Amino acid sequence: MSSLAIKVENLKKEYITKDSTLQVIKGIDFELEKGEIAMLLGPSGSGKTTLLLMLGCILEPTSGRITLDDEIVYEDRWILKDTRKLRREKLGFIFQAHNLIPFLNVQDNVTLLPQLNGIAEVEYKKKAKEILTYLGIEDKTNYMIGSLSGGQSQRVAIARSLANDPRIILADEPTAALDKERAISVMELLRKLAKEQEVAMIVVTHDDRLLPYFDSVLKIDDGYLTKTKASETKLH
Ligand SMILES: Nc1ncnc2c1ncn2[C@@H]1O[C@H](COP(=O)(O)OP(=O)(O)O)[C@@H](O)[C@H]1O
Ligand SMILES: [Mg+2]
Repeated sequence: MSSLAIKVENLKKEYITKDSTLQVIKGIDFELEKGEIAMLLGPSGSGKTTLLLMLGCILEPTSGRITLDDEIVYEDRWILKDTRKLRREKLGFIFQAHNLIPFLNVQDNVTLLPQLNGIAEVEYKKKAKEILTYLGIEDKTNYMIGSLSGGQSQRVAIARSLANDPRIILADEPTAALDKERAISVMELLRKLAKEQEVAMIVVTHDDRLLPYFDSVLKIDDGYLTKTKASETKLH
């Protein structure tokens, strides 16, 4: 086992539509260590979401190679046949909190996937309790999503991404709907998780003030990506 969580080599993605071909990712290379938390930056439309979806094995690249946790999952085609199993077992996704299911309570939102996967009730309830306690929202276990504040819902979205003990978390603008204080508390939490549980994370954000919470910065521009250390990165 290496210390790498993600390795991307010469990855390309083009979207082909009826009357045009759009080369979004033109050949990118980077690596992320286990426990490393990276900020993903780039102008709107530069391909940040596209990259996260490819790393999450949700969107098929055009070519290149993706290795996750020492396993080649894609090399000019899907190498790993059961990408759903990989998603279920190793990956966590955090999107904005409005992806939560409003008519379910907090516990059921957090454990929906384990429930659908047939995990026993005692098991998933124990897991939910553990995660919600870790995130400091155990008292909200039986609340409906609609009754929570923005910051609380975003914690539930994070809790949900943790239900399967992921090795890699992909987060698409998880703090976009939050004020500065709440954005910082979410980032503190993500950083703690990355370090304590050695989870590798890529977090899309436009908020320069969050830079101190990251180890590294991945910047996409015009289809190419550069990686720098957060401590040596000047934004603007
Ligand atoms: N399914 C798709 N079909 C065609 N073009 C797409 C599709 N999804 C995204 N795009 C285009 O690809 C580019 C990158 O999109 P996206 O990855 O969402 O960028 P970002 O998340 O950085 O804003 C944009 O120009 C977008 O319009
Ligand atoms: Mg996007």
